[in-house]
Amino acid sequence: MPIHEVKHPLIRHKLGLMRRADISTKNFRELAQEVGALLTYEATKDFSLQEKTIEGWAGPVTVEQIHGKKITIVPILRAGLGMLDGVLSLIPVARVSVVGQIRNEETLEASTYLEKLVGELDQRMALIVDPMLATGGSMISTIDLLKKAGSTEIRALVLVAAPEGIEKVLEKHPDVSIYTASIDDHLNEKGYILPGLGDAGDKIFGTK
Ligand code: PRP
Ligand code: URA
Repeated sequence: MPIHEVKHPLIRHKLGLMRRADISTKNFRELAQEVGALLTYEATKDFSLQEKTIEGWAGPVTVEQIHGKKITIVPILRAGLGMLDGVLSLIPVARVSVVGQIRNEETLEASTYLEKLVGELDQRMALIVDPMLATGGSMISTIDLLKKAGSTEIRALVLVAAPEGIEKVLEKHPDVSIYTASIDDHLNEKGYILPGLGDAGDKIFGTK
C-alpha cells in the first residue's frame, strides 16, 4: 500500500504534543527526531533478513542480518534536517543525500536550490524525510530528481500529510510509499496543513 498512516500510540501521543501552540523550540525539535525514528521503525519492517553463523560467547550461533540493503536518507532542507538524526539513530550506516527545496509562499511552487546526492543511487533505497507534505510540490520535485539520478526504490517519511498532497504525489509517483504520523484534514488558502503543526522549519530552527 503506498500510503501508511502509522497509528502507534507513542506516535499519536508525541504528535499531539507537537501540535500545541505554545511548544518550545527544544521540545518540537526533540519530538520531530523521536517521531522520525518511530516512522523509520515502521518503514523498515518489511526488510528481509538472512541468517549468518557467527562466533558467540559460547561458540557458533546463527543470527539474522538485514539482507543486502543499501540506504540513502534524503532530508529535504531545511525542515527535513529536523528528522535526520532520528532516522540515523536506527540506520546509522546510511549515506545522506541532501536536497534543498523552497516553497514560494505566494505561488506555492517548489524550487530546488541544492542537490548533493550520494553515488550508486540505483542500488540504494532512498528514504526521503520532511516533516510536512502539504501541496506535494517539494516532495514531487525531490522524487523527480532522485529518479532522474537513478533511484528506483523510494519511501517518504513525513510527520503530517495533507490529503491534497498525498493525492498529487501518488498520482505522479504511484510506486513511492509514504509513511506518515497523520493524514490531516486539508490545506488552508495559504497552503498550510490544518490542523497541522504550523511552519515546521521555523519551529525547528527557531526562526520567526
Ligand atoms: C516546507 C516543508 C516542506 C514543504 C511542504 O518547507 O518542510 O518541504 O514546505 O510544502 P509543499 O508540500 O506544499 O511543497 P519550506 O519550503 O517552508 O522550507 P523550509 O523547510 O526551509 O522551512
Ligand atoms: N510547510 C510547513 O512548514 N507547514 C505547512 O503546514 C505547510 C508547508
